[in-house]
Amino acid sequence: MSEMIIQTYGLTRRYGKQTSVNNLNMNVPRGSIYGFLGPNGAGKTTTIRMILGLIRPSSGEVRVFNQPFPSHRISILKRVGSLVESPSYYGHLTGYENLDVLAKLLGASPKRIHEMLNVVRLTSAANKKVKGYSLGMKQRLGIAAALLGQPDLLILDEPTNGLDPSGIHEIRELIKEMPKQHGITVLVSSHLLSEIEQMANQVGIINEGNLIFEDHIEVLRKRSLPKLILEVDRPQEALSIVQRIDRSAVIENGVLELSHLDYAQTAELNRQLVQEGHSVYRIREWTSSLESIFLDLVGKGTSL
Ligand SMILES: Nc1ncnc2c1ncn2[C@@H]1O[C@H](COP(=O)(O)OP(=O)(O)OP(=O)(O)O)[C@@H](O)[C@H]1O
Ligand SMILES: [Mg+2]
Repeated sequence: MSEMIIQTYGLTRRYGKQTSVNNLNMNVPRGSIYGFLGPNGAGKTTTIRMILGLIRPSSGEVRVFNQPFPSHRISILKRVGSLVESPSYYGHLTGYENLDVLAKLLGASPKRIHEMLNVVRLTSAANKKVKGYSLGMKQRLGIAAALLGQPDLLILDEPTNGLDPSGIHEIRELIKEMPKQHGITVLVSSHLLSEIEQMANQVGIINEGNLIFEDHIEVLRKRSLPKLILEVDRPQEALSIVQRIDRSAVIENGVLELSHLDYAQTAELNRQLVQEGHSVYRIREWTSSLESIFLDLVGKGTSL
């Protein structure tokens, strides 16, 4: 099993009677881009704040780099870069100067500032005042700031919020480089599956404070492979014939559902059914999108 960079155990946060984060057991493997996905109000920011030690859990525990909060708070946070909600800057200072303020605190060199400005493609705007930056430029400066202290873990809460498609694309490409080029593990939250799908390899889905899915993105993708739907007059009797070709076939809402077959197998199945006296009304292919799987999960709100 791979080493975990973040682990939470029964992590819970209540506000009055409301439970915003409920008994979360989260696992972020080293070197992964972990997409933390959930609709508005699901509990993403609250979870991230607890992971960063910005708020206290009502109960449960957080371990980062296999060290517990809060006893190892300082040594953990030294190795973490983060961007939570809209970062604040000194508008009257330039991008470079803003990073310089931080670099002095972190003991980072001017060389490092230039390198990070280059990573987020802000070199040409480095000497421009931040109040003249676009939203996308401010987000990128926030990422540069998060990277300044050479973190092993980068935590980004909805880094593409409010950006246009090209800004979203840029941030996404930037994030994708982190594990390979910089050896950084990334936890990135979003309410958009399409976005997470394009950069994450590990996915956690949170809904109403509960982690309802956590696995490799391929596990989610497999659920969206095409299936074959077969409508016949007597599905129950036809099932045993169908199972000769596909053992995983089931009856769902009165129709037979089987995995995807090639042309020859489909034709063979049809032949056998007809030979044994069944009326085949329809054979059709059905693909559920990842989006619909996500909505289905979130809609049901049940654990998988
Ligand atoms: N300080 C607070 N006081 C009271 N309730 C809070 C507080 N912070 C968060 N909540 C509640 O906790 C729930 C989860 O909020 P949170 O901000 O974690 O969601 P989120 O997944 O980050 O949503 P979004 O996608 O909109 O950023 C919400 O119902 C919110 O109203
Ligand atoms: Mg949030």
